[in-house]
Amino acid sequence: MSLELGFLVFRSPLLSFEAFLWAVLLVGTIAFWLSPGGIAWARFRSKASLAIPGPLGYPFLGLLTVFTGSTPHRALAKLAETLNAVKLMAFSVGFTRFIISSDPETAREILNNSAFADRPVKESAYELLFHRAMGFAPYGDYWRNLRRISANHLFSPKRIAGFEGFRRQIGAKMVEDIKFSMETRGEVLIKKVLHFGSLNNVMATVFGKKYDFENPDLAALELEELVSEGYELLGIFNWSDHFPLLGWLDLQGVRKRCRNLVSRVNVFVGKIIEEHAVKRIGVGPGDDGNNAGDFVDVLLDLEKHEKLNNSDMIAVLWEMVFRGTDTVAILLEWILARLVLHPEIQAKAQAEIDAVVGRSKQVSDSDVQNLPYVQAIVKETLRVHPPGPLLSWARLAIHDVHVGDHLVPAGTTAMVNMWAITHNEKVWSDPEKFRPERFMEEEVSVMGSDLRLAPFGSGRRVCPGKAMGLATVHLWLVQLLQGFKWVAAGEDAGVGGVAVDLTEHLKLSMEMKNPLVCKAMARVC
Ligand code: HEM
Repeated sequence: MSLELGFLVFRSPLLSFEAFLWAVLLVGTIAFWLSPGGIAWARFRSKASLAIPGPLGYPFLGLLTVFTGSTPHRALAKLAETLNAVKLMAFSVGFTRFIISSDPETAREILNNSAFADRPVKESAYELLFHRAMGFAPYGDYWRNLRRISANHLFSPKRIAGFEGFRRQIGAKMVEDIKFSMETRGEVLIKKVLHFGSLNNVMATVFGKKYDFENPDLAALELEELVSEGYELLGIFNWSDHFPLLGWLDLQGVRKRCRNLVSRVNVFVGKIIEEHAVKRIGVGPGDDGNNAGDFVDVLLDLEKHEKLNNSDMIAVLWEMVFRGTDTVAILLEWILARLVLHPEIQAKAQAEIDAVVGRSKQVSDSDVQNLPYVQAIVKETLRVHPPGPLLSWARLAIHDVHVGDHLVPAGTTAMVNMWAITHNEKVWSDPEKFRPERFMEEEVSVMGSDLRLAPFGSGRRVCPGKAMGLATVHLWLVQLLQGFKWVAAGEDAGVGGVAVDLTEHLKLSMEMKNPLVCKAMARVC
């Protein structure tokens, strides 16, 4: 700035007032930002009797960069440790207020408190109409009704057992696809096989439909496109969720893509519902509901006061595809990755299967209870690689509530860092070591009662599909271990080489950044 210009700036009353305003804004921002937890917490500083410790992050942005990275669970665990905020940490992402716990007892307090029985609905979930589906519906009668219907007609032990045949058939088809891939390519990209197997499993249970993804027709191609677009939209970090003023600009095009997807989904699912309705003309509703066909039939059978309108029905059905497909496929991919890395553990599991089921006999759900080591492998993988390290779906404080001595204001998003808990050496001995034996030495439930390992969450909004998910993972794992010995692919695999890359990437679920490619060697009977 020249001397003359500098002089003018000082002398001009207008400019000095402007400068004054800027200075006030700057001081205000810094003061706000200096609140523990960052800017979104500033308004509540005087309200909170005991401030929750937390990082400031960047002015305005808060911890935004943590969530645009690929391992936010690790970054948040490290921050909590450094700030002595393992029990509870506060932070901001833009104008969204968060708390997160990396401690089993505090996690229990949050997840089991009805004050946290709501979920924050991101723009993509709202636009995809998921606020009318179980996972994002506000806590209340509508949500309770959906939980009750699905508990009775989709996730009941009887229904899960009723779908055993389907699961086994799909498992057998995966075994065939793997053989084919070995014959034609000499290796297997297992993620693809598991994804399509799992998608078919959900489509069969929920919609009564099966697709051939190896030789896809138009419907299979459309389904795969709808699913992958939905996964991407739900997994995207959307700036509008945290900076409301940006909302109307739709800078990332999320809203536009969601609306486009919703109209395609309406046509796709609407057609399936229509087919069911036509088939039912002249046929009475399913007898006691437990023997009814699929979940579409169940929803069509609902009595008047429970009946869902068409668009709610589509939202409920479609959500199941998202919740049920990749969680199962991704968990199995991590399990196989671990078994390739630890041949001795794989051999021990196969010896157990050979002794209990045999090499060629068809496995059934009831065999699994006699396979404790196989179950221990699944638990250890859930511990080391939880598919939802931040429990995927956060909770929202419905009203002001205390967590320990801290006041958490209504509207705060609450998270549990399950990954941090399962990797804490004060909670688990040798947490980095993959050692299924720990679950042979101590009985630990993964269903939500023991917060040291709650990969399905806990409390009112615990995963309703957990038993179905586990039944599927166990059955398919046994089929895959009965059929093949899993070894690393690639010349440099093994000592010194990268046999399996365990790098994580948290999208909607925690995926392997570089999908597992391995060899499946047929086991001789
Ligand atoms: C390995 C498999 C699975 C894992 C790790 C998993 C994990 C989770 C987690 C962590 C939550 C949030 C729980 C909470 O807030 O406390 C959840 C919710 C949910 N899951 Fe799963 N899940 C799996 C399989 C399934 C399957 C197979 C289905 C259905 C087909 C399903 C349907 C749901 C639904 C509907 C919710 C929302 C419940 C609500 O908000 O009331 N999940 N799941």
